[in-house]
Amino acid sequence: MKLTNLRVWNLVEPVGYAMNAPVFSWTVEEAQGEQAFARTTVRVNGETAYDSGEERAADSLGWKIRLPLLPRTRYDYTLTVQSTSGERATADSFFETGKRDETWTAKWISPRQSRSCAQLRKRFTVSACTESARLYMCGLGVYEVWLNGEKVGDEYLAPGYHAYDFHLAAQTYDVTGRLREGENELIIALGEGWFKGRLGFEGGYTDLYGDRLYAIAELYGDGVLLTATDESWEELHSPVTFANIYDGETWDARIAPDLLGNAEETEPEHCGVLQDRVSLPVRAFDRFSVKELMETPKGDTILDFGQNMTGWVEFRSRLPEGTSLTLTAGEILQDGEFYHDNYRTAKTEFTYISDGQERMVRPHFTFFGFRYMKVSCTCPVNADDFTAVHLRSAMPGTTVFACGNPLVNRLYENALWGMKDNLLEVPTDCPQRDERLGWTGDAQAISDTACQSLYMPAFYRKYLWDMRAEQSILGGSVPNVVPRIKRDMIGEHGSCPWADAGVIIPFNTWRYYGNTELLRETYPGMKDWVDCQRRREEAIGGPHLVKDGFHFADWLALDNPQPGPFGATDPLYIASAYYYRCAQIVAESANLLGFAEAGEYRDLAAEILAAIREKYFGADGLCQIRTQTAAALAIVFGLTKKVQEQGDVLYELVAGNNSHLNTGFVGTPILCPALSSTGHHDMAVTLLLQEDFPSWLYSVRLGATTIWERWNSVLPDGHMNPEGMNSLNHYTYGSIAGWMLSWLCGVRPALPGYRKAILEPRPDRRLGHAEAKLDTAAGRFVCGWRFEGDTVHYHVEIPFGAVAELRLPGQRVQELSPGKYDF
Ligand code: BGC
Repeated sequence: MKLTNLRVWNLVEPVGYAMNAPVFSWTVEEAQGEQAFARTTVRVNGETAYDSGEERAADSLGWKIRLPLLPRTRYDYTLTVQSTSGERATADSFFETGKRDETWTAKWISPRQSRSCAQLRKRFTVSACTESARLYMCGLGVYEVWLNGEKVGDEYLAPGYHAYDFHLAAQTYDVTGRLREGENELIIALGEGWFKGRLGFEGGYTDLYGDRLYAIAELYGDGVLLTATDESWEELHSPVTFANIYDGETWDARIAPDLLGNAEETEPEHCGVLQDRVSLPVRAFDRFSVKELMETPKGDTILDFGQNMTGWVEFRSRLPEGTSLTLTAGEILQDGEFYHDNYRTAKTEFTYISDGQERMVRPHFTFFGFRYMKVSCTCPVNADDFTAVHLRSAMPGTTVFACGNPLVNRLYENALWGMKDNLLEVPTDCPQRDERLGWTGDAQAISDTACQSLYMPAFYRKYLWDMRAEQSILGGSVPNVVPRIKRDMIGEHGSCPWADAGVIIPFNTWRYYGNTELLRETYPGMKDWVDCQRRREEAIGGPHLVKDGFHFADWLALDNPQPGPFGATDPLYIASAYYYRCAQIVAESANLLGFAEAGEYRDLAAEILAAIREKYFGADGLCQIRTQTAAALAIVFGLTKKVQEQGDVLYELVAGNNSHLNTGFVGTPILCPALSSTGHHDMAVTLLLQEDFPSWLYSVRLGATTIWERWNSVLPDGHMNPEGMNSLNHYTYGSIAGWMLSWLCGVRPALPGYRKAILEPRPDRRLGHAEAKLDTAAGRFVCGWRFEGDTVHYHVEIPFGAVAELRLPGQRVQELSPGKYDF
């Protein structure tokens, strides 16, 4: 028996994260049965601060203990779990608090001159070696911090992108062993980032959240303040002369970091309070060497890294002094030439000007979405010098999928890349062009699949924190983009199903991870969005329906004879369906949390449903809107009582479209689940296996390594679709990966956090075999099937403490306890 995945607030050994009390979670491996009790003891400096005793009710998905937390304190804890069979295991871990509500001694400082990038320095003396050292700090827009010539921490682009007008996130770094007796030097390098740099499309805005760069820092040795930012800090010339998120960065290594004068003490204006971080760090993940070095017919030098990704390229520079090298990002080649038009106004260039020293070079305050890099340099280019680095918020993947069709396997990988590439600080629409914003609609559409593929709760906790902050000034409405871009641009909110992210994302997070405390934290935002809709629709009068407003609805669906991005399904039907679903979820959540208002929302949901049926359904109980999306919604949201007949209608709509889909952002994630759950799984597999437009494998056949924004982002002749809004890295249609796991392999949570799972493998001869391994909140589930001749073999695994309901075709449902089974 072994304890694994020990986490606090869904984070492994968190240091400096916002929390009022610890919430523990863990998994148990190599054991049978279930948990009899758990016990946790918490120590500060070796002294016991808390002992739970043997707690039978301790929930491995989220166990909150009542321990008042001190600032800047490390808490070591020991977790012991005993199983019903008498086995016992113990493991140690820790968490550490940041400054919490402690007053900062340090002052915010800022460079005196307005520049794109700056460096702030302090030289200070340490008289004796310290056993432990910590740095608490924040820099705006983005920063890197260097102590005695070495970068502190393994994260990039700190403090990240959040709703700066509501809170500023402080990071805590363990710098133990990095201080020396005598003189030490701390340098904070600053760039514009999302805070001050250009953001938003159509040119965007600069100075959105602030018009200066700022920093604040306190360095402690053995708990004693050693140095803190104030006016004695110096401003140096920055060799990084320009950087922003969209346009890239220029690093002129010839510029010496000469002294410019002293920094100014001044606080960021119109910003929220500085508090411990909620966000995950951005870290480097996969690294790619050059797959091909090409020269195009026009004479451009291109590096192909073989994978469309988010991150940057680093290289070893051996360039002579004064020689510059520029890398420009691209997603695709066009007629063998470099193509950049779909980045719109984003320049996405990294320029390095050499000082003649050999060194590793990388950007600091920007990132790119790219597969290709065009190299502009007067010196010869050696492919071995370049490495592409994938950056994203630090959440691990949790799932492995494989089947007998290589194109489908590639599609699964593309979907995974689509998610990984769009989870840098906020769930973005795309990582490359002049956008990269936290579009709520895209985020909610993929959230179900993301929770099945990556470990998402801490990432969503931060996104939802920002969302609730924005809701607080919008009467509960949810903006189309979170964090909201201030001023007039994208000031819009309340559009279906973008705003419904406020309910759908927290609910999916609850459903897949089962952390009640996280549900409790996110519940107020969920309820506020439903209340906001209710106030609005009641003010107009009539039955409980969404009756007005702008809605993106089935964005980019192909079923509308009118040209443009809007699908054919009536947006008010879709909006009312989501209103119903959200009210239902709030009722269910209130009930789980023990709130009396559960009944009120249950009644509201029932009234919305009755009104939807009255307006949009015929006497036969079927949705009168004859689109794939309308029918799929009726099934998946439970709008129809005639589920089977509605499934038959959906089947006919797909069959009548030459067995092809024509859905957009609403219909696509639910289309195959709606078919599979109404006896038309064969048709769902047919859709999966189509290779011509519009289909998932169409993009795979055209060489995609991610998911595209449009079904035909690339035309059959390999040319980019000339429509202005066209990215090759948008995750929504990657939601098919969720169906592969939950319907093709058949693993679905029956209880939150997969404490109980449904295992319903659906063999299909066309695929030969399929298997999913999911490291869920409850532990590892495996479910797979394989054809051998006419026989289908099934293999399933159920983790400790969980149960499963096995539904094999044509057989009685069986309850399975933890273990490995073959059928
Ligand atoms: C984004 C989308 C987004 C949409 C809403 C686009 O520019 O890339 O994914 O949801 O705008 O209009």
